[in-house]
Amino acid sequence: MTTAFPDHSVVPPVWSRITNLEVDRGEGSWLITTGGERYLDYSSGIGVTNTGHAHPRVVAAIQAQAAKLLHGQQNIVYHEPGLRLYERLRGLLPGGPWSAFLSNSGAEAVEASVKLARVATGRPVIISFRGGFHGRTAQTMALTTAKDVYRAAFEPLPGSVYHTKFPYCYRAAGGAHAPDAGCSCDWEAELDLLFHQVIYPNRVAAIIVEPVQGEGGYIIPAPTFLPRLREITRQHGILLIVDEVQTGFGRTGEMFAVQHWGVEPDILVMAKGIASGLPLSGILARTELMDRLPPGTHGGTYGGNVVSCAAALATLDVIDDEDLVANARARGAQLAGGLRELQADHPAIGDVRGLGCMVAMEFVKPGTGDGRTPDADLSKRVIAEALERRLIVLSAGSYGNVSRIIPPLVTTSEEVDRALGILEASVIAAGG
Ligand SMILES: Cc1ncc(COP(=O)(O)O)c(C=O)c1O
Repeated sequence: MTTAFPDHSVVPPVWSRITNLEVDRGEGSWLITTGGERYLDYSSGIGVTNTGHAHPRVVAAIQAQAAKLLHGQQNIVYHEPGLRLYERLRGLLPGGPWSAFLSNSGAEAVEASVKLARVATGRPVIISFRGGFHGRTAQTMALTTAKDVYRAAFEPLPGSVYHTKFPYCYRAAGGAHAPDAGCSCDWEAELDLLFHQVIYPNRVAAIIVEPVQGEGGYIIPAPTFLPRLREITRQHGILLIVDEVQTGFGRTGEMFAVQHWGVEPDILVMAKGIASGLPLSGILARTELMDRLPPGTHGGTYGGNVVSCAAALATLDVIDDEDLVANARARGAQLAGGLRELQADHPAIGDVRGLGCMVAMEFVKPGTGDGRTPDADLSKRVIAEALERRLIVLSAGSYGNVSRIIPPLVTTSEEVDRALGILEASVIAAGG
C-alpha cells in the first residue's frame, strides 16, 4: 500500500527549487517520477551522476559493501575500499607524487585545501577569482563570488581572502572574443595590481581557481591562462589549488580539466563525480605538502566512508571500462555544435560555450546596449520550457542569464539529439 507524500512545505525554503518533481528512481540519463513520467536529466544532479543514475556496477558495489560494513571510521580502523581508493587516486593525475585526503562534500574538501596551504606555507592569504564558486561553509563562502546570494547575507566572512579577475572572454572590455583568439582579458594585470595595492605576494599561501568556472557560468578561460597562472604562482612560492569539484572525473573530456592545458597544480580538490552520488570528496596534494599536516590537525567523523569508497572504486572502473572520458568529448562536441547551429538563428543566444559535457548558452538582449546585456528572464523561461518538455537543465552565471547543460557521461548520441530538439523548441517557445 502506498501513502501520499508529506506536503512539500516540510522542506525549508532555503532549498531554492529548480523543479517540483517527485522522483521515484533513476536509470542512466533518466529520472522517473512517482507518476511514471520520464525526464532526461541533463543536470546530472549538478554534475554528480557522471556514470548515469543507478549504474548497475556502482549499485552492486554499494550493495555488497553495505551488507558488510557501513561505517569504518578513518581514525579508528583501516578498510579495504578506503585503502584501495587512496592508492588509486594517487595515480589519477600525472605528475606528483600525490597523496589523497578523503572527506564528504566539495566545500569540506576546499576547506582542507586551504588549511593545508596555510600550514604548508606558513602564509595566511588565499586569493580566489571573481565569479568563482567554492562552497557554502564560512571559509568557502569567503572564497565565493559567483553570486551575491551565496554570501551577501552572511557577512562578516573570514578574512585574508582577496579576489581577482577571471578571464571571461565573452564579457571582455572592448568586445567579446573567442578564448583561443589571443586573449585581451586583463586578468594578469589585475593580479599584479592586487600584489601592488592589497597584499605582498610572499604573504599569499595559495591561489584557488576553477579551471572552468561552474556556477559562475561555465566560463572557459583562454588556453594561456592556467599555464601563465602556474608560472606566476611558482615565481612567488604561492601554491596553486585547482577546484575540480565540478570539472573532475571526466566531465570536461579529460579525467581532470587541468589536463587540457598540461598544468600541474599543487593541490587538486574533487567531489561530485567521484562516487556517482554517494557523499565523498577529497584532495590530491603533492605528498611532501600533505605530510606537513600533523596528525589530528584535520579530519572528520564520516570522511572516506566505506560505502562511498566502494562506490568510488566502481565509478572509476565504469569511467575506464566504458571509455566515458572519450564519450564526454564526443557527446559534448555534438551538443555544443548543435547549439551553435541554433545560435545562428537566435541572436538572443549571445554565446555558446562547451568543454566536454559542460555546455552552456548565455542569453542576452541583442538590441540593447552593446548587444551583451544579460537576459536572465529569457534563460529562466528556456529552462522552464525545457522542463515542460521533460528535459532538466540548470541556470548559472552571476546575472542568472546562463542555461547550463550537464549530461551524464553515459549519455547517447540519440539522447543528445533529443535534448537539442527540445532546446530548440524551448528557445522558440520562450521567445528567444
Ligand atoms: C567548483 C565547486 N567547488 C565547490 C563546490 C561545493 O561543493 P559541495 O556543494 O559539495 O559542498 C561546488 C558545488 O557546486 C563547486 O561547483
